Amino acid sequence: MRRVKLVDVFTHPISQKYLNRSGVAHAIKVAQYAVQLAVKHEVNPDIAAKAALLHDIGHYEWYTDGEWDFEEYKKNDIHAIKGAERAHRLLIRLGEDRQNAKEIALAVLLHTDSYLPDKTIKKTSLQQIISSADEMDEEPFGKHHYRRIPLEEALHHVMQLDKEIDLHLMSEYRKSV
Ligand SMILES: [Fe+2]
Repeated sequence: MRRVKLVDVFTHPISQKYLNRSGVAHAIKVAQYAVQLAVKHEVNPDIAAKAALLHDIGHYEWYTDGEWDFEEYKKNDIHAIKGAERAHRLLIRLGEDRQNAKEIALAVLLHTDSYLPDKTIKKTSLQQIISSADEMDEEPFGKHHYRRIPLEEALHHVMQLDKEIDLHLMSEYRKSV
């Protein structure tokens, strides 16, 4: 039913490269929260999971003299803009439906308002879910980006989410026929 599974997104070398930079454990936790919120608020959990998994894919490392420079990051960061483009390119390459790819890219773009001059944008349910799920896993001083998880365990969680999403979509489909 789904053209692209979460595990296809997760295991792609582009995701692996950037998720290892911004934190695999954080990305997975946010995807788990996003699926729970999506089911609760009747948003497609497949789209929510992909947007959540990729929400920080645009991160750049802000080091000054070997130390993380939080001030520099806060001033100049555009990770949501970079992430939206990266996520979109990756999803299209994987064969994702174009409308889904656009929705996911927009949710990545708006998961934080830290870089926006005007913070009064009205978010869709999906966009709100991704930003709430992100906040649910946030730790002070960006510590959530450094939490580690073994690859095996990460893969297990991702495949578990795929199963949950498939079951949910199948039961929604049954209700509709
Ligand atoms: Fe995040």
